[in-house]
Amino acid sequence: MLIHSASQLLTLYGGTQRGKKLGELGIISNGALLFRGEKIQAVGTTKELLSAFPKEELFDARGCVVMPGFVDAHTHLVWAGDRAAEFKMRQKGKSYMEILAAGGGILSTVRTTRIAEPTELKAQTRQRAREIFRYGTTTAEAKSGYGLQLSTELRLLEVLVQLDAEMPLQIVPTFLGAHTIPEEFKENPQAYTDLVCEQMLPAVKDWWQSHVPNLVLPFVDVFCEQGVFNLSQSRQILAKAKKLGFPLKIHADEFENLGGAKLAAELGAVSADHLVKTSNSDILALAASDTVAVGLPCTPFGLGEKDYTPAKKILSAEGLLALGSDLNPGTAWCGNMQFVIALACRTMGLTTAQAIAASTINAAAAISLQDQIGSLEKGKQADLLILNVGDYRNLGYRFGMNLVRAVIKKGKLYDFK
Ligand code: NIG
Ligand code: FE
Repeated sequence: MLIHSASQLLTLYGGTQRGKKLGELGIISNGALLFRGEKIQAVGTTKELLSAFPKEELFDARGCVVMPGFVDAHTHLVWAGDRAAEFKMRQKGKSYMEILAAGGGILSTVRTTRIAEPTELKAQTRQRAREIFRYGTTTAEAKSGYGLQLSTELRLLEVLVQLDAEMPLQIVPTFLGAHTIPEEFKENPQAYTDLVCEQMLPAVKDWWQSHVPNLVLPFVDVFCEQGVFNLSQSRQILAKAKKLGFPLKIHADEFENLGGAKLAAELGAVSADHLVKTSNSDILALAASDTVAVGLPCTPFGLGEKDYTPAKKILSAEGLLALGSDLNPGTAWCGNMQFVIALACRTMGLTTAQAIAASTINAAAAISLQDQIGSLEKGKQADLLILNVGDYRNLGYRFGMNLVRAVIKKGKLYDFK
């Protein structure tokens, strides 16, 4: 299919965008793109492509922006139940971490997820996957972490693997057995840390290799935070995961600066996420590494907090910045990357162009897929969006509405017109 006459075709050409380079959209006016099968064959002006490929099936994108599908670098897509009652407690002044310390928060979703019927768990997750696809996310990282016991954690990973195969949304899984200390280990967090290292990680690796032999190992993530996994426990888990061959991620400095960002850089993690309270020296360490800094503005927004990821500091230190939604039932029930872009423009000081690059090519780097997705270039996967607007600056400017008219995923058209 040949898409032609796009007002603006955002190619995001030229690889990941570090530091001050962030925001190069590579715009072609009156742009066109040809894809065959799952891959992009050619990108150029309408005139060039219509004359070079005169016999293709056509899609008229007049008045539309054509751009890469959004890559959501961080979600907790799979869980059962909700925490609406806790939102009311938070409105009355209880903090997120106080609720968790009292056995609610993540632990509340662990309880509902452990007992959910597998079909129900899958149905609730499928519904969210469908919704974010409709908002233009073509690939999403997705974490387990509401099981906190091997059997349930494997069930969550299995749902993610199955939905990836069944749905157009491409799902990149992460094992987050270290999401919090489960109730039954409340008095002995170190024993749970040891269990994750000695039993769960090797078992996840075995299970993965026998169930999903064609895929690389999932990421391993840990919630490094005061009252959850401290820095030494986080190091223990990530170092063990690395030894077993897993690629790494970390939840760092969401509420307090424990040093997780620096740890991520030291261990060669693929990404360090949240980074709200990160110190200047940790920002420098991170920016000097290949670890991608992932900002998640829906989280402070969802919690009603005032501090956001210091994007400008990360960029002036020449760091690699990406964005994600953090879609989860506690802090941010939102998987709309258009809203993430609008928030990042207002709270992190990004321009719309920077936020777009952070949600496409750089977000692809946060899940090690920058060679396959995140930009519109010959040979890459045909994952693209056709927006209902002719100027990309409407992203960021408008918010809460859906500008996506059609999605193409692996060369298959989903027209929502
Ligand atoms: O990224 N910080 C840890 N995990 C999630 C919240 C998960 C939850 O509250 O259920 C986050 O904000
Ligand atoms: Fe998260």
